[in-house]
Amino acid sequence: MFPIGIHDIALATGHYALDLEELAERHGVDPGKYTVGLGQSTQTVPATDEDIVTMAAAAAKQIMAEHDAGDIRTVLLATETGIDQSKAAAIYVQDLLGLPSSTRAVELKQACYGGTSALHFAAGLVHRNPGHKVLVLASDIAKYDLGSAGEATQGAAAVAMLVSADPAVAVLEPVSGLYTANVQDFWRPNYRSTPMVDGKLSVSLYLEAVEQVWKDYEARGGRAIQDFAAFCYHQPFTRMAYKAHARLLEIHGIDTDNARLDADLAATTVYNRLVGNSYTASLYVGLMSLLDHAEDLSGRSVGMLSYGSGCVAEFFGLSMVPGYRRRLRTSANQSAIARREPISYERYREIREFELPEDGSSKVLAVDGAGPFRLRAVAEHSRMYEACHLIQA
Ligand code: COA
Repeated sequence: MFPIGIHDIALATGHYALDLEELAERHGVDPGKYTVGLGQSTQTVPATDEDIVTMAAAAAKQIMAEHDAGDIRTVLLATETGIDQSKAAAIYVQDLLGLPSSTRAVELKQACYGGTSALHFAAGLVHRNPGHKVLVLASDIAKYDLGSAGEATQGAAAVAMLVSADPAVAVLEPVSGLYTANVQDFWRPNYRSTPMVDGKLSVSLYLEAVEQVWKDYEARGGRAIQDFAAFCYHQPFTRMAYKAHARLLEIHGIDTDNARLDADLAATTVYNRLVGNSYTASLYVGLMSLLDHAEDLSGRSVGMLSYGSGCVAEFFGLSMVPGYRRRLRTSANQSAIARREPISYERYREIREFELPEDGSSKVLAVDGAGPFRLRAVAEHSRMYEACHLIQA
């Protein structure tokens, strides 16, 4: 069988950054709780004219600049920040990118796990027709109630991945460990813009899922833990990766201390510590952080653990293709994060209070962000986007 996997990968995030030390001061807590206890330094706050579509299109645009649009037959967009109950956000992205109309465009949902489902479904489509490529998008804005425990873990980012046969970056290994359980740790009813969340329960269910996916992975003939050169975890906050990895090592009777965990995980947390939770994109932001900061992993395997509340989890391996480093966008990734404009708590609150009309009335949005695409207006219950050729690419 021919190898299938990630042929290209790109990142986008929102326009503003809020410092968590300032948020801690406003919440009246020791900043160490956020910077050390949760492992977060800043969080991305999207501009008022940015959403999951503009971020996904900004990530995908970098990929489309280097690949033939005609090869793409499917766009899969995973999100839990849906902008419509019916129409797929993938269609707006397909249009903004100028992809051929002979494309299928679909949206997928299962909390933070959705991006991983899209990656595996994409591999199935490529297996069916090795000449086709699939554009996988994971794009989310994590937003919690003001003053809640989750507010410090907010963030936003999008990751675009081109999935193909004979990939240049990473091959999806054939064995997966899976786990699904019907639990209420985090969910967002249709009538709410922020989730219902039992944070402590979600942490313990995530750790239970680590055990369960490994059990299934092992039973299905997966690799031994020693075969992995690195591990990436879904990172609702970066300390969660430490908790999850400690649990995986404990299952194997391997001693864990902070030095060992740091050595295994620090490279995967650099970007997530700065952008915050990006739900479906988070695991893949962690992967990009690892690839941009670790030694050459050519020919070696990276263990990937995806968790989505509700809950579904999956453990699988990625085998790094020799020479993959030539395909990385390290400086673009770093500058997407570094160029965010720092904002005061007051400005953050103004952005939180900004609302799009919900009664069908029209609103033309002032230019706020500086990405390659923006939400231009809302009218007759519809969103209208535009490309900003004169603004930064
Ligand atoms: N210096 C350093 N660390 C500190 C500290 C300080 N001054 N004050 C507290 N901490 C540590 C705590 O000991 C704790 O560490 P531990 O988890 O290793 O014990 C950590 O900071 C967080 O403190 P805690 O009191 O547990 O935070 P919280 O209950 O207010 O909120 C969550 C934590 C995860 C529940 C909350 O952020 C949340 O609901 N997040 C959204 C849901 C989520 O991300 N779920 C994850 C799984 S998907």
